[in-house]
Amino acid sequence: MSDLALRARGIRRTFRENGQELSILGGVDLDVQPGEVVAILGVSGSGKSTLLSILGTLDKPDEGTLLIDGEDPSKLGDTALSRLRSKSLGFMFQFHHLLPDLDALENVALAARIAGISQAEATERARELLDAAGLGERLHHRPGQLSGGERQRAALARALANHPKVVLADEPTGNLDPANAHKLLSTLQELSSRFSQAFVLATHDPELAQGAHRRLRLVQGELSENP
Ligand SMILES: Nc1ncnc2c1ncn2[C@@H]1O[C@H](COP(=O)(O)OP(=O)(O)O)[C@@H](O)[C@H]1O
Ligand SMILES: [Mg+2]
Repeated sequence: MSDLALRARGIRRTFRENGQELSILGGVDLDVQPGEVVAILGVSGSGKSTLLSILGTLDKPDEGTLLIDGEDPSKLGDTALSRLRSKSLGFMFQFHHLLPDLDALENVALAARIAGISQAEATERARELLDAAGLGERLHHRPGQLSGGERQRAALARALANHPKVVLADEPTGNLDPANAHKLLSTLQELSSRFSQAFVLATHDPELAQGAHRRLRLVQGELSENP
């Protein structure tokens, strides 16, 4: 059990807006094995981002338990929680959030440095990841000098910089044309198998979902298998 990348049980989340209660997650269970790529499908507003925020410890569930890399975030103080995030989790969003004044290599290496990896090792790791992402010739380009697809692949490399147990990716192809979405998917598959890297992908991109090992659908606050 403790060798799971991530384990969620009975996750509930309700938002209160203007005196109204909105139940978004009604008891979600999820196990993610090391190296497993899981896609979470669901229409807009179904709670995919809410679930990913909770799995990423950026939001807290009202009920339920979470184990990330064997640790229960609800038992950790702020410092230990940041340490867990920087050691065990990687994040990727619809927009790249790369730092505009750093080049691709520096962006990825910085993420590794923040996780406590030495400068020499961080640079080596960043080079390897960017190379695998097809950006070996773009190491010294700043985000503004990269195409949209390249920026998103650099963001993927950055999400893996700290050797996370699991990467949480919210609509990672949401802003890409089909050709670049396809390229991101093949890079993700390549990195996942090379580094035994688990991913949880929130997406409504059918191709991305088909490329996952397992597909689940979020409907009315519950996750079910989506073959
Ligand atoms: N912080 C919040 N406060 C109130 N309502 C929220 C909050 N975050 C999300 N919601 C609501 O929860 C629902 C699910 O949102 P979200 O998780 O973003 O869905 P998805 O990512 O599947 O589109 C939406 O109806 C949204 O308005
Ligand atoms: Mg969303």
